[in-house]
Amino acid sequence: MTVDIQSNSKEADVKNTGFNVEEKSSSSRVLERNVKDGSNLMSPETGQYLSNNNTDVIENPIISVKNFDFSYGNNKVLHDINLDVPEKEIVAFIGPSGCGKSTLLRSMNRMNDLVDVANYEGEIIIRDQNIFDPALDVIGLRRRVGMVFQKSNPFPKSIYENVIFGLRIIGENRKSFLDETVERCLRSAALWDEVKDRLHESAFGLSGGQMQRLCIARAIANEPEIVLMDEPCSALDPVATVKVEELMLELKKNYTIVIVTHNMQQASRVSDRTAFFYLGELVEYAKTERIFSNPSNPKTEDYISGRFG
Ligand SMILES: Nc1ncnc2c1ncn2[C@@H]1O[C@H](COP(=O)(O)OP(=O)(O)OP(=O)(O)O)[C@@H](O)[C@H]1O
Ligand SMILES: [Mg+2]
Repeated sequence: MTVDIQSNSKEADVKNTGFNVEEKSSSSRVLERNVKDGSNLMSPETGQYLSNNNTDVIENPIISVKNFDFSYGNNKVLHDINLDVPEKEIVAFIGPSGCGKSTLLRSMNRMNDLVDVANYEGEIIIRDQNIFDPALDVIGLRRRVGMVFQKSNPFPKSIYENVIFGLRIIGENRKSFLDETVERCLRSAALWDEVKDRLHESAFGLSGGQMQRLCIARAIANEPEIVLMDEPCSALDPVATVKVEELMLELKKNYTIVIVTHNMQQASRVSDRTAFFYLGELVEYAKTERIFSNPSNPKTEDYISGRFG
């Protein structure tokens, strides 16, 4: 779905965000408002924020990013990121192109290990374990933290074999178990009815939206705890996008989802919390409704109302 985030009109804000951003305020009005509700306060002298950019305390997070810096060679692209993800919620990462959203997402299952020049400092704790611990089993981590990419990437195999790809790798060959898994995962991915009569045909015969749901089915066949999604709908039409969004809302009953999206409507529709990144920094992280209706930082407000990015 294409969203005109360049528009400055109030109507467009309501359309884009799904929330009525009542005040198109200047920084000073944001400050006034924040003084009233006691949230992040900006010093009028320095322009610095006086309190943390995380506005909510999250008890027992499933993911906890702590003082995380990330560089590609000499190019530092993430600066001191601190962010907790609650279990069985959907957290959206938003921000302009190049601000580091995908880098942080890929760090969460160590996909960035594949980049030679990558280096980092800080920790990412998943269920009380630092995922950078040298003793950690990285393959096991990637099973627990699945990933769905922007461009769907089915393997040149049948629909059936795509779903159970991860299970085959670990030597699972019990037919009845595999059959059950294929049906359960395709049902969970809202794809079963569309493909149940062609399970042994090539996955390449599916439409783009179907392929993306197949990749989601493949991700959940590994029974992950967390599913990372990097712009999963950006190549899909509005109908397929709605299907994937409905699927995410269904999946969060069992999984924790972190999604990167450029679509403000999507972030406001599906996520419980939203993190706004700018130039490698986490500018603001709060409940989605708050980010879209009463952000604490004027930069967040400018971005969600389409003034830049
Ligand atoms: N493999 C890589 N090698 C070197 N630099 C990289 C690599 N991947 C990303 N970068 C750089 O790191 C910065 C952050 O990139 P990243 O892909 O995380 O941004 P993003 O917020 O996901 O952007 P977009 O919205 O365009 O997907 C960018 O400047 C990018 O050019
Ligand atoms: Mg990206």
